[in-house]
Amino acid sequence: MKHWGLIAALTLAAVGARAETVLITGSNRGLGFELASQYAADGWTVIATARTPDDDDALQNLAAQYGSVRIEPLDVTNHAQIDALAEKLRGTAIDVLINNAGVLGDPNIQRLGNLDFSIAEHLFATNTLGPLKIADAFLEHVAASETKKVMNVSSIVGSITLTGGNIYFYRASKTALNMLMRNFAKDTEKRGIIVGMIHPGVVDTDMSAPFDIPKVAVEESATGVRDVIEWYTPDTSGTFMQYTGEPMAW
Ligand SMILES: NC(=O)c1ccc[n+]([C@@H]2O[C@H](COP(=O)([O-])OP(=O)(O)OC[C@H]3O[C@@H](n4cnc5c(N)ncnc54)[C@H](OP(=O)(O)O)[C@@H]3O)[C@@H](O)[C@H]2O)c1
Repeated sequence: MKHWGLIAALTLAAVGARAETVLITGSNRGLGFELASQYAADGWTVIATARTPDDDDALQNLAAQYGSVRIEPLDVTNHAQIDALAEKLRGTAIDVLINNAGVLGDPNIQRLGNLDFSIAEHLFATNTLGPLKIADAFLEHVAASETKKVMNVSSIVGSITLTGGNIYFYRASKTALNMLMRNFAKDTEKRGIIVGMIHPGVVDTDMSAPFDIPKVAVEESATGVRDVIEWYTPDTSGTFMQYTGEPMAW
């Protein structure tokens, strides 16, 4: 099945289109896997990162199906590993960098009367500090591309305006992610970097399993997220959007 990647590359060459490159964190399951699948099917070069990719059959199968999918191990809390991957990929232009990897943590230990502060550090390391470290480490790779986008999967639950109680640490990790990335947008705008924070909807993945509420199919969410990524321009950089294309309240 490797020939599909070749066919995609030849088709792009025939129509004069440029093969773009996307790097996605947490691409082994959930939204990250669906994003990787959709970009690969559209002929993109996909640098699909995951904590333990050798164990991820779906991701391995995707790479077997599309020669344009390259798998790289990456734990977003491991800064040395992030630096090593950035060095390994030095000279590779990355059009779209997607900070997707995230953890919710057990909601039952993020409620009043049962707050387990020991998990807060892990949530911040994964959801907040990891994305900033990755954006910083891969800044030159993104700057070297034509598209120059750093996109972050945020969440409605990080909205201060719309907050609804509970899941204290997860909420705060996404609110802080938004702050860091809006700041990153300010610091990099002169270099033409475009930064986005996107709420993907309440998506039907492992993460939303504890919540008995209406959910968006992962295919629909990923399609919307990709459309919003496409929509971002220098003028809209640093804004917080929903996967539907509507603005999200901070
Ligand atoms: N699902 C929703 O309703 C919803 C709503 C709003 C926002 N989001 C956000 O959407 C993003 C994707 O979530 P999802 O719904 O697809 O959840 P998911 O199915 O639980 O997938 C989470 C992904 O993040 C990866 N990950 C976790 N910690 C990591 C680490 N330290 N290093 C590398 N990868 C790590 C996981 O890898 P492993 O398999 O190795 O654990 C997995 O690939 C997250 O940022 C989440 O906060 C989700």
